[in-house]
Amino acid sequence: MQKRHFETIAIRTQSKQTDQKEHSVPVFMTSSFTYDSAEHASAVFKGEQKANVYSRYTNPNCEELVQKLCLLEGAESGMVTASGMAAVYTSFAALLNSGDHIISSKRIFGNSTYVLQKFIAERGVEVTFVDGTDLDEWASAFRPNTAMIYIETPSNPTLTTLDMRKIGELCKAHNSIFSVDNCFATPYLQQPVKFGADLVIHSATKYIDGQGRVLGGAILGRSELIVKCSDFLRRTGASLSPFNAWVLSKSLETLAVRMDRHCSNAAAVADYLNKHSEVDYITYPHHPSNPQLDIAQQQMSQGGGLVGCQLQGGASRVMSFFNGLKLHSLTANLGDTRSIATHPATTTHSKMNTEEQLDAGVTPGYLRLSVGLEHIDDILEDIEQSLRQSR
Ligand SMILES: Cc1ncc(COP(=O)(O)O)c(C=O)c1O
Repeated sequence: MQKRHFETIAIRTQSKQTDQKEHSVPVFMTSSFTYDSAEHASAVFKGEQKANVYSRYTNPNCEELVQKLCLLEGAESGMVTASGMAAVYTSFAALLNSGDHIISSKRIFGNSTYVLQKFIAERGVEVTFVDGTDLDEWASAFRPNTAMIYIETPSNPTLTTLDMRKIGELCKAHNSIFSVDNCFATPYLQQPVKFGADLVIHSATKYIDGQGRVLGGAILGRSELIVKCSDFLRRTGASLSPFNAWVLSKSLETLAVRMDRHCSNAAAVADYLNKHSEVDYITYPHHPSNPQLDIAQQQMSQGGGLVGCQLQGGASRVMSFFNGLKLHSLTANLGDTRSIATHPATTTHSKMNTEEQLDAGVTPGYLRLSVGLEHIDDILEDIEQSLRQSR
């Protein structure tokens, strides 16, 4: 049989039908599962027989989501978590020990930077941040105790493209784990495992849900790493609820069609902003202005649903532009059907000091648009009217 396509896998991977013969998978809202006998319970606990025990460990809805995500990402194994940050933190806490060293790109989600600087550093792990686009900086940052490399590509919020193949090669040469947060691209546009990633992290809250309803996360990748992450999660408890797993698995059924539209709408917004006289520069992975365009085109099949730009007039102009938007939502999420405007310097990256912000590309005039699935004419009209009135 020919290998099934992305869309078919996303729709047709589902839990075994129950004897009710349902077409749509039910939600298994149960905290625990029963045993056939006392002997069965004992065998399950000894690991001699496989069965669901308790929803902090496994649940059919979570298992379906894991199986689907592994197939879509081309990953050996996986697990799901209560949120994207639970996935990020679990991957660090389960795999890094006191005395280890981690190198991270500077251009990552503000909260991930905070977790590294505070909680991971406090565990006795040395943390180094590098300019992810500079391969020499990566190469010289490795130490004998470098256990992990962590990147986002495209990154939050500057949409910077990093060369996964080259960074992956460095990780292999130094025997370090290569971990990629693939939240902005989704497996539909980019599969980091193909470029050498050992781990792929997701905030499923974003495009995987796609409708701004539930939180969720995932860690996918090499089995021996996932075993350690699963052990950490099962014992410490940031497991995904069956209901959220059900929502996310259903949402994956439409990921491909949603992403196609997010990408075409975002490309049109990028073109519009790029031509606007009051915009200093735009950031969009597949736009000719991306200094890493070649790499972005090799890694991603389309440019994604997020666009950034620096508006002339700094933070006060961005605030006035945001206050004039009638269609766009001002909210912390992204990857929603609804278009969203975010000012990273005063929200998602506000915990950084000014120097750190500038180092991470977060200037006062920089804004990020999560381009939704409304009609493109309405999206552009809203941006245009608000830019006009905010002069
Ligand atoms: C790139 C990236 N990774 C991880 C997260 C954290 O995800 P969550 O909000 O689901 O915890 C976010 C949230 O914005 C993000 O943008």
